[in-house]
Amino acid sequence: MSLTTPNNIAGISCCVYSVGVCFTKVAHMPNQPKVYLNGSFVDKNKAFVSVMDRGFLFGDGVYEVFPSYNRHVFGLDSHLSRLQKGLKSIQIQNPYSLNEWKSIIHKVIELNPENNNQAVYLQITRGCDQDRKHTYGDIDPTIYIQSSAFNTRSKKELLKGAEAITQDDIRWSQCNTKATSLLPNIMYAQMAKNLEIEEVILCRNGIVTECSSSNVFIVKNECLYTHPKGSYILPGITREAVLSCATACGIQTVEKEFSKNDLLEADEVWVTSSTREVVPITLVDRLKVGSGMVGEVWRSIYEHYQAIKVNQ
Ligand SMILES: Cc1ncc(COP(=O)(O)O)c(C=O)c1O
Repeated sequence: MSLTTPNNIAGISCCVYSVGVCFTKVAHMPNQPKVYLNGSFVDKNKAFVSVMDRGFLFGDGVYEVFPSYNRHVFGLDSHLSRLQKGLKSIQIQNPYSLNEWKSIIHKVIELNPENNNQAVYLQITRGCDQDRKHTYGDIDPTIYIQSSAFNTRSKKELLKGAEAITQDDIRWSQCNTKATSLLPNIMYAQMAKNLEIEEVILCRNGIVTECSSSNVFIVKNECLYTHPKGSYILPGITREAVLSCATACGIQTVEKEFSKNDLLEADEVWVTSSTREVVPITLVDRLKVGSGMVGEVWRSIYEHYQAIKVNQ
């Protein structure tokens, strides 16, 4: 018995088989999220990309995640500027101007009215070619944008502290490109999930770089340290915002390499990203960070970040 034509008639899914017709009642899905795909806003369950897409075949593309609070994207220009740099680094022509990107992103947010706070995911792949081969011709990029509900953790929740472990940073040395090919990152993120901990902190030749999907900060003697920008970390937009918050709060900041030993001897450790914001880590490699309690410097930064994210 082979399936020949799938159809959907008014909430009744009708599967036409070569030996007859079977009707199955399916849940009515009135509120399908709207996504953007190559110039159109469509229901997410109707958005399809070819198997010849180089994003699918090679992970050949870049992406961005924009946090939006009350429908306003926090750090929109910084995210778009990083996107432009990423596209340039992998030689994909930016298909849109800044203003075009902004209006498309805002439209996606507007078309998903269920959620006040949304995490907008945008990816651009090199596009589809005739054959699967490493090299590429002159092809149009595939542009996809979706938005999901974005729930941040409460201060009470964050004050419980979180746990991280360290692992070798086995990634390539162009980590400043937000590439969709993320194999090491996803393996480490899954490791954290399986261990029911917050993050895996990565070390390259004994130097702490960043994490599977966030940047890392330490506080030592009331001074805030994070790895300098360059090819070994993603220049996080949250990282930048946190550095500004620290300066505004009168906390000294140093963008300088620090070792795994410095991490283990830190007074405070935090991880930052657009969707996590600033998470205090109180246990690294099963050892207490400082007193094992969330630190005072984190508390100041947390309050400041909460204020700027909605009043930018
Ligand atoms: C490897 C890595 N580093 C850092 C970050 C934090 O970047 P941002 O603050 O721009 O979200 C991310 C975010 O996904 C990431 O994947």
